Amino acid sequence: MRIRNICCIGAGYVGGPTMAVIAQKCPEIDVTVVDINEKRIAAWNDKNVENIPIYEPGLPEVVQEARGRNLFFSTDVDAAIDKADMIFISVNTPTKTYGIGKGMAADLKYIELCARQIARVSKTDKIVVEKSTLPVRTAEALKNILDNTGNGVNFQILSNPEFLAEGTAVDDLMDPDRVLIGGDIDSAKGKEAVDALVNVYAHWVPKSKILTTNVWSSELSKLTANAFLAQRVSSINAMSELCEKTGADVTEVAKAVGMDSRIGSKFLKSSVGFGGSCFQKDILNLVYIAKSFGLHEVADYWEQVIIMNDHQKRRFASNIVSSLFNTVSGKKIALLGWAFKKDTNDTRESAAIYVADYLLNEQAEIVVYDPKVKEEQIFADLDNLNSRSEEENRKRVTVLNDPYEVCRDAHAIAVLTEWDEFKEMDWGKIYKDMLKPAFLFDGRRLLERKTKEEIGFEFYAIGS
Ligand SMILES: NC(=O)c1ccc[n+]([C@@H]2O[C@H](COP(=O)([O-])OP(=O)(O)OC[C@H]3O[C@@H](n4cnc5c(N)ncnc54)[C@H](O)[C@@H]3O)[C@@H](O)[C@H]2O)c1
Repeated sequence: MRIRNICCIGAGYVGGPTMAVIAQKCPEIDVTVVDINEKRIAAWNDKNVENIPIYEPGLPEVVQEARGRNLFFSTDVDAAIDKADMIFISVNTPTKTYGIGKGMAADLKYIELCARQIARVSKTDKIVVEKSTLPVRTAEALKNILDNTGNGVNFQILSNPEFLAEGTAVDDLMDPDRVLIGGDIDSAKGKEAVDALVNVYAHWVPKSKILTTNVWSSELSKLTANAFLAQRVSSINAMSELCEKTGADVTEVAKAVGMDSRIGSKFLKSSVGFGGSCFQKDILNLVYIAKSFGLHEVADYWEQVIIMNDHQKRRFASNIVSSLFNTVSGKKIALLGWAFKKDTNDTRESAAIYVADYLLNEQAEIVVYDPKVKEEQIFADLDNLNSRSEEENRKRVTVLNDPYEVCRDAHAIAVLTEWDEFKEMDWGKIYKDMLKPAFLFDGRRLLERKTKEEIGFEFYAIGS
């Protein structure tokens, strides 16, 4: 079976880049990315490709090449579903904020809405691909809805979780470690659907890197991969605190440990804590699933990864307060970076939000600079916490476009995102314009201690 028309529901951090790359690599397939968010779709269609809503290195070039040729962005969800042979569901699956499973389980309401819409609109057979990260066995629920509310057409459900990392999404999509496709490989129709998706990826991914499994393994592998990655960060962060007490240096420890080929060197960088839309949500979901099967030891084991991460963020912020003579009330604290990591404008679950909130509770005045995050996003992130009124947030937090202005007259600076440009700043000038003693807290181990101490900074880096 040859796929000619793809529809992707959800034009976010996954749907947008993933479909742009599929369209670029498969010029004979029409790819339409749809979303109910009109503003987002308008930005994807902006004449100036630099204005697309998601910042990812290399993405504007890919979109430029394919957009209008075989890549389309639209709000007409029904029309795109109707003409597609294959439909990717790439909508958000946040943690539930209400009812049973509140604060833990994945909220599948957006997924269910998609399934009902696909069932209602489809008049021909469709392959439905779960691209969103989902609890294991969601495909069963999807199939149930599709088969029971559809128009008698055949639906095949595949699981094809996305492993891209924000900030390197285009490289990850162009040259993935693996592509995982789960399907009903024991039935002829299921196998045909799996092969159809394999053939899409085989345009540019070597077949040896395309894994096919049953659906449940595929769904669970994605949660497992994120849990393992986050666990490594929490493991090294746990060691960072011990390093600070013992005189060991976490970078040296990470290097020594990571050179063991059984352990490997990646994801051993200590920091103020992991953020992003996925790690916390997916682990909480895993914990919830384990609990719902009565596997309490399994649940507790993974929950500890989150507990450690929360501790790291709090610990970093409270260290700022104690270093500044136990009070930051009325003091200006400059935050460099708001995105959850460099090379993305995504701020979901960013450590910066929680550090800022902690310091605001201590009555600090916060000034923020991030090269890619807009002021409105920073305020939205703080407002969403409901820690104080929107007016109060705007009174106590200032967002500026100039990092030197942000640092001027500050009592302390906290580096919260590892943007390369922070390494290159004129730290001598920054020091001169700050109040003394001038404190510099490096939450990303980005800056060189020696040169900063020579300038005169009171320098603190996580893990040493
Ligand atoms: N962001 C990542 O790095 C990443 C990586 C791998 C997997 N994932 C997973 O991929 C999924 C999507 O993540 P994301 O970061 O792209 O989310 P996102 O919030 O950036 O995008 C989701 C989009 O879906 C749209 N949407 C929701 N319901 C819709 C509907 N019924 N019809 C049309 N559009 C609808 C929303 O308007 C939004 O624009 C999640 O399950 C996430 O866990 C994310």
